[in-house]
Amino acid sequence: MEKVNQADFWQQRYEQDSIGWDMGQVSPPLKAYIDQLPEAAKGQAILVPGAGNAYEVGYLYEQGFTNVTLVDFAPAPIEAFAGRYPDFPAAHLICADFFEISPEQYQFDWVLEQTFFCAINPACRDEYVQQMAKLLKPKGKLIGLLFDKDFGRNEPPFGGSSDEYRQRFAPYFDIEIMASSYNSHPARQGSELFIKMRVKE
Ligand SMILES: C[S@@+](CC[C@H](N)C(=O)[O-])C[C@H]1O[C@@H](n2cnc3c(N)ncnc32)[C@H](O)[C@@H]1O
Repeated sequence: MEKVNQADFWQQRYEQDSIGWDMGQVSPPLKAYIDQLPEAAKGQAILVPGAGNAYEVGYLYEQGFTNVTLVDFAPAPIEAFAGRYPDFPAAHLICADFFEISPEQYQFDWVLEQTFFCAINPACRDEYVQQMAKLLKPKGKLIGLLFDKDFGRNEPPFGGSSDEYRQRFAPYFDIEIMASSYNSHPARQGSELFIKMRVKE
């Protein structure tokens, strides 16, 4: 279980092309969310943590979002992303542990969650919630997808339920939406919750 907290575990998965979670495209519910945002949102500071091959970051960039930051502690997908988007600002490609990102240095208007929460050791979930709250500006939002499923395994993805997530997030976030996703990728139909929550003031 501890190995999932180590960059090497994930780096090897990328090197061996053992990346069953990778959809090879922007997640449909997140694309739909991005597509309805107003023009004024394009300058907002956005974080995509545990971004992997970062199709969401690529999509945001292609749509003209100018302040998107990718964090992952495995170098392989970041290098691949930089190869696909050579003009993407290098300072916004951060190869680091999410839990060690400094809130004094980085503050975001919103964060996009996509199969990162399910990848960390479940024992670190409260730490994730607290770190997320710290990295968001006042009224900042956490948007994304969480699994609504118990995978019953001792390796990622680690699932969960709406009840568990509400309990964990409610002390730090006002939960505006936590509902079954109606437009998930076919492989994830019926197993995802779309979330939109705002950090408490
Ligand atoms: C299951 S993959 C998901 C990747 C991507 N979000 C996607 O949907 O394709 C989890 C990613 O989180 C990264 N990761 C796991 N723990 C991390 C941590 N503590 N800090 C930064 N990245 C982490 C892994 O390297 C991996 O790329």
